[in-house]
Amino acid sequence: MKVQKDIPEEIKKEIEQLVKELNYHCYRYYVLDSPVISDQQYDDLYRRLVELEKTYNYILPDSPTQRVGAPPLDKFEKVTHAEPMLSLDNAFSYNDLIEFDRRIKRLLNKNDEIEYTVEPKYDGLAIELTYIDSILHKASTRGDGYTGEDVTQNIKTIKSVPIKIETSNKIPKYIDIRGEIYMHIKDFQELNKEREAKNEPLFANPRNAAAGSVRQLDPTITQKRKLHLSCYGIGKISEELFKNQGELINWLKNARFPVPAIVKISKGINTVIKDIEEIQKKRDSFPFETDGAVIKVNDFELQRLLGYKTREPRWAIAFKFQAHQGTTKILEIKGSVGRTGVITPYAILEPIKIGGVTVSRSTLHNWDEIERKDIREGDYVIVERAGDVIPHIIMPIKERRTNTEKKVNKPEKCPVCNSKLMIDEEEVAIRCINLDCPAQIQEKIIHFASRGAMNIEGLGEKNVNLLYSHGLIKHFSDIYKLKKEDLLKLPRFKEKSAQNLINAIESSKEARLSKFLFALGIPHVGEYASRLLAENFQKLEDLYYIKKDKILTIRQIGEKISQSICDFFNNVDNIDVLELLKNEGIKITNPDFKDTLDTHKPLKGLTFVITGSLEIPRKELQEEIIKGGGNVLSSISRNVDYLIVGQDPGSKLDKAKQLNIKTINYREFLNLYKNK
Ligand code: IVH
Repeated sequence: MKVQKDIPEEIKKEIEQLVKELNYHCYRYYVLDSPVISDQQYDDLYRRLVELEKTYNYILPDSPTQRVGAPPLDKFEKVTHAEPMLSLDNAFSYNDLIEFDRRIKRLLNKNDEIEYTVEPKYDGLAIELTYIDSILHKASTRGDGYTGEDVTQNIKTIKSVPIKIETSNKIPKYIDIRGEIYMHIKDFQELNKEREAKNEPLFANPRNAAAGSVRQLDPTITQKRKLHLSCYGIGKISEELFKNQGELINWLKNARFPVPAIVKISKGINTVIKDIEEIQKKRDSFPFETDGAVIKVNDFELQRLLGYKTREPRWAIAFKFQAHQGTTKILEIKGSVGRTGVITPYAILEPIKIGGVTVSRSTLHNWDEIERKDIREGDYVIVERAGDVIPHIIMPIKERRTNTEKKVNKPEKCPVCNSKLMIDEEEVAIRCINLDCPAQIQEKIIHFASRGAMNIEGLGEKNVNLLYSHGLIKHFSDIYKLKKEDLLKLPRFKEKSAQNLINAIESSKEARLSKFLFALGIPHVGEYASRLLAENFQKLEDLYYIKKDKILTIRQIGEKISQSICDFFNNVDNIDVLELLKNEGIKITNPDFKDTLDTHKPLKGLTFVITGSLEIPRKELQEEIIKGGGNVLSSISRNVDYLIVGQDPGSKLDKAKQLNIKTINYREFLNLYKNK
């Protein structure tokens, strides 16, 4: 602490008070995720502190100004850990856990059930934080477990790392606190996007991004990365303060340290398995990646008795979840034709099991992405498959190249109809503009019959292929000409399946205008725009030969969509098809139409975003909002009025808090609706 003699007492007091207050608000914001003052108010206090520190040269060791401004290093100094930082043994099945429990009971010579803690395993970089007399003295990486690297200046820039321990509980003179530095998935994705734009190498996953960000010689780079801390253990401690892991976690929490999102204390391995299942269920809703759960014997005395193997404790084990990522080889890169003629590249992969599912294909999004990521045929690549998301390629492993890999060029001819392709500059797309292209025709029919459109069960990819290749349908309007006798001539159909399809086609004839418009597959007109059209135009015929200005009066529809709708309904051939469909017996009703003059729209002008799972299906809530005149968006921005929050909310909640957007639950939403 640099002390200058003649500082007025009240200035000293003000500085001390400012440091205390700022540290508290930092904790509210970065650890509890629940700020009580605005960013502006925080900045004002911070500025005042900087000014006073400068004028009086009185800087407290835990001042928030000390988090930043350290000069770059030439290299990291080595740090020897007072107690080695070991790793964990892995369990890949519940049987492994039962065996772990049996061994512990045997070693302790115990028959009663053991008490365990269960925590998510954070996938990041292990760190040790040394506090002496409450002040953060050193932060070091794990290294080889015995010697790590001094990354103190970098770690200080992470706002959830306390510079000073503040708690009403007893504070040991010396304590090594251990935890994981990690990055949120969305921040990792954003970081990679930025790096891609700057042509910098990408990080394979949030763990590598966190590790790369901590091991930076220049702290200003670490400061810019959005890193988090989760503390789950201790190394050396000067006094014996804790009897068990539960007590330690509570102490850490009270001392303002972030701790794992879930810490369960359970007796017996069967309860532990239930806890693991609960964590696994929540896995995809966590904003960070977890690759498993860590199970520890709760009692520290028992931990001591059990001791260590060479590299791992006997009192803890990591239960591994199935991976989201894997490494495999690209056998070939091909293009597929969508219903609007866009050619999308995809990779044929050497089959690999990821998360229990065999993956042999992966989308490559668009041709520019292949070039940007420099993905080649024959490359080994990291493939990701998370939840229901279609598998995609993260990056090639360039180190494994053998010079036999082949760059692929953008195709010049349609892979299906062989006609010359057009480059759609505005959309970075390559398009087949041959209206007779069989791939496009079939995709259009599949879309027409799909669940969100005309909902004709039994008319998916396989049957459309079959009917098309036998010349029974060449356009979606041909669906209504199909006869049972025609179907029975085909190899796949029998009496019952043929009748089912005919019935499904028949019942699709009673169609809602919104669904019918969506089914037409007008470029850029998705479910939402179709619904808006149905709300604003009473009959299909009101759209015939429409003028663009009229569509543009619908607030939520922009230039591009209006143009596309206008092009479609001003084309005589399209009008002919619509009339033909009506002649085939299609009856269109429009319950969505709202006569804007006399309909009560309590949510008019309000914009909503939804996160988490709610009491009613999300689709229904969206419909309720739209019915009430409100607007639903899929991501948070300043234009949003309310975030409706359900159980297990996602990262949208964090973003809404940052932007001070009101959050409400479903019940509050209903009140809003009623009281307006
Ligand atoms: S306890 C003796 N708890 O996993 C080691 N580790 O594979 C005790 N990790 O090195 C570690 N979350 O970096 C523990 N809740 C948690 C954890 C956790 C992540 C990391 C840690 C450790 C590695 C072992």
